Amino acid sequence: MADQDQASEAQLEGQLAEGEDVALWTGLREAAVEAMRRAYAPYSHYPVGAAALVDDGRVVTGCNVENAGYGVTLCAECGLVSQLVVTGGGRLTHFVCVNADGAVIMPCGRCRQLLFEHGGRRLRVWTVSGLKGMDAVLPDAFGPEDLDEVVH
Ligand code: THU
Repeated sequence: MADQDQASEAQLEGQLAEGEDVALWTGLREAAVEAMRRAYAPYSHYPVGAAALVDDGRVVTGCNVENAGYGVTLCAECGLVSQLVVTGGGRLTHFVCVNADGAVIMPCGRCRQLLFEHGGRRLRVWTVSGLKGMDAVLPDAFGPEDLDEVVH
């Protein structure tokens, strides 16, 4: 096992809340590393891979895809959400993203919003400071329910 893998697993085990499944999380991180290896990141040289479990047992993944028009870059999470929808939809239940070292990184702000739409407050996220609910990763998030609040 590579040093980074051991470090991540040790980090994970130290942060596991009761009832969390280590094998599930290590498998998900491996899927994210596989996806990261396919990233197209010729401008930033910062490949990212993302993986998530869906409520029907599917695993969906994505990698970042950059563009000469830098602002057009697609984050790894964009590909993951696209794969979720095109393979049948469903709710994301567990999510992790990694950098070129296989180390866990935080989803960027925009991607937290993307993830919230498809996983909601209860989506479990492997963060740089342990496993958390999406309610902690994007507190007081704006979501689909807010659109129903306004009386027309
Ligand atoms: N990136 C992602 O793919 N996801 C994130 O959540 C953070 C940033 C990518 C975008 C860009 O290709 C590279 O990382 C450097 O910002």
